[in-house]
Amino acid sequence: MTETVTTWTRVCSTDDVPDAEGRRFEVSGHTLAVFNVDGEYFASDDMCSHGESSLSEGYVEPDCAVECIAHMARFSLRTGEVLAPPATTPIKVYPVRVDGADVLVGLDA
Ligand code: FES
Repeated sequence: MTETVTTWTRVCSTDDVPDAEGRRFEVSGHTLAVFNVDGEYFASDDMCSHGESSLSEGYVEPDCAVECIAHMARFSLRTGEVLAPPATTPIKVYPVRVDGADVLVGLDA
């Protein structure tokens, strides 16, 4: 898939997100979750599509998925698709680029 991103926004440093964890960041009016899966970074909206739960507090899994701590729905961090119920609506994911120690997110993609 070709991504067309005109604006990359620095969200955090690579050191801000430990491996196999997520962190929440407020940037440009977005509440984002940034995840680190074995040195690969992913970004999504932080709010679970099923309810009021922060995905950055979820369980990051090696197959590039996150499991919500509230009711255990699973989402792909690559596509946002639902991998396990009870959620039925995908989460929004954003393209990520690492430039040196900066994690950049394409918010307008
Ligand atoms: S709030 Fe995330 S699975 Fe229910």
